[in-house]
Amino acid sequence: MSKQITVSGVRPTGKQHLGNYFGAVKNFVRMQDLFNGYFFVADYHSLTTHPNANDLREKSKNIAVVYLACGLDPDKCALYLQSDVPQIPELYLIFNMMAYLGELEREATFKEKVREQPNNVNAGLLTYPVLMTVDIIIHKAAKVPVGKDQQQHVEMSRDFVRRFNNLYGVQYFPEPEAFSFADKLVNVPSLDGEGKMSKSKPDHTCIYLEDEPDVIRKKLMRMVTDSGPKEPNSAKPLIIQNVFDMMELVSAKETIQHFEETYNNCTIRYGDMKKQLAEDMVTFLMPIREKIAELSANEKKVYEILGDGGSKARASASQTLKDVREIIGIKSF
Ligand code: ADP
Ligand code: TRP
Repeated sequence: MSKQITVSGVRPTGKQHLGNYFGAVKNFVRMQDLFNGYFFVADYHSLTTHPNANDLREKSKNIAVVYLACGLDPDKCALYLQSDVPQIPELYLIFNMMAYLGELEREATFKEKVREQPNNVNAGLLTYPVLMTVDIIIHKAAKVPVGKDQQQHVEMSRDFVRRFNNLYGVQYFPEPEAFSFADKLVNVPSLDGEGKMSKSKPDHTCIYLEDEPDVIRKKLMRMVTDSGPKEPNSAKPLIIQNVFDMMELVSAKETIQHFEETYNNCTIRYGDMKKQLAEDMVTFLMPIREKIAELSANEKKVYEILGDGGSKARASASQTLKDVREIIGIKSF
């Protein structure tokens, strides 16, 4: 049986952090063995915020570097730049006819952006969910690994696809679904204990995959704790739970168990715990950081991989577009 198709993308907006790794990239790496995977850098999507050209180029390359460093294997999946697939903008034009103004205006991310950047409410921002739909269906993918924040977009893509299939009386596109490995939806906490780790928060609250060991140590040692439990087996306050949650990501089971026990019998020393966490984090990130450095020094290889990924993506996309042109009555000469 042929493998199911999966697509996911990320906007090249900045350095990748631990939350991006555990919430997204790690899943892609797992999925590349089980699915026919298309993973891309959503550079067209970034244009909504009018980035400077050099910045966009640099950040797009960096995303590819990080993905490869984290284990995406170009022999197992297609890794490409969205802008290398001209069939995407063509299908985007066609799918703009499937999307209504009212629903686009009601979409939560759009409303948030209108509040955040009132002087730049461009049409690309409004039709962002249409472009995202096309990214997915250009390969007729059904499974889309994304975080909770992207679920509404995937829901909208189902509506647009259903409309297309109904309008033309075909069952051509599968309805895309958000996907995660069901065991656990990861939420990597911010180091200041306020919500999730995010690149839009201050630098010291966020561990970047390329951070130097000493920077990692410093950031983790600054995690806020309290004076320790007063009663055996007490519930953990959020800030303490966060330290345990971070350990859960990178430390050995016995290590976690040791600190659970000392927490429960009130002998825990948070300084020791954070020191251990920092060492485990440094060990965990070391191979990724080394790979990032190695690939960053070999841009040619990275662009070659992206070039090959682009060819794979175009081959699949051009078949879809040929079918769609036929379905909607636009003849190719
Ligand atoms: P940021 O909040 O830093 O801007 P993005 O919105 O670019 O992150 O997220 C890219 C991907 O990483 C998404 O799939 C998102 O769900 C995931 N992600 C981001 N932050 C976290 C986090 N703290 N914990 C788990 N997953 C996260
Ligand atoms: N909108 C996604 C984000 O902001 C990025 C994205 C663009 C995407 N196209 C996609 C994700 C297609 C999954 C599938 O994170």
